[in-house]
Amino acid sequence: MPEDYFAALIFTGDVWRDIRDFMSPRRPDTWRHVQAVAEVAGRLAARFAVLPEEARFAGLCHDLAAVVPKDKLIAVAAAWDVPLTAADRQIPQVLHGPIAAAVVSARWPGANQQVLDAIRYHTTLRAGAGTLEKVVFVADKIAYDPTTPRTDYMMAVEQAVQTSLDAAAFAYLDFVVKHQAELGWKLHPNLLAAHGELAQRAALE
Ligand SMILES: [Fe+2]
Ligand SMILES: [Fe+2]
Repeated sequence: MPEDYFAALIFTGDVWRDIRDFMSPRRPDTWRHVQAVAEVAGRLAARFAVLPEEARFAGLCHDLAAVVPKDKLIAVAAAWDVPLTAADRQIPQVLHGPIAAAVVSARWPGANQQVLDAIRYHTTLRAGAGTLEKVVFVADKIAYDPTTPRTDYMMAVEQAVQTSLDAAAFAYLDFVVKHQAELGWKLHPNLLAAHGELAQRAALE
């Protein structure tokens, strides 16, 4: 069994304080990032008709698994009963979303499925994603993680979000797909499926 990286995480109902108490001593950079994501997600939620408090909650919780070292992600995912595909094993960094969703689900039974999915798919999105998932996905890209190696998709995402949530999600996904070789990223099937779906939708408009 890997170490329980979430032993100190306690949900009291005041999620901002709970996540602060857990994240700020362990990953102060991530604590700053998740607050920014929660704020942007709350704003987008009001505009795109999902509950701002759910968007803020998912925003605060989405990167909880930043406390897990990269080389431990697969073992921790398995310990939390996160189903692992071959692609997940090849691109283990995407597991930080599913791990966070599993932890929140276990520790805070009040979190509904939409909130858990928004946490789970915040890195890759997926085909058929709901509005809350897209809100958190887009907010995460706008309020970028300081460890993100490239941020030159930001302008495109910020411009596209004026039009629609789908356009903003697509702007990021299309940047990643088009720059895959130079980024040197392996693209997860969920990301490619989301890109394909949104490309098709954009072509029909
Ligand atoms: Fe993340
Ligand atoms: Fe993030």
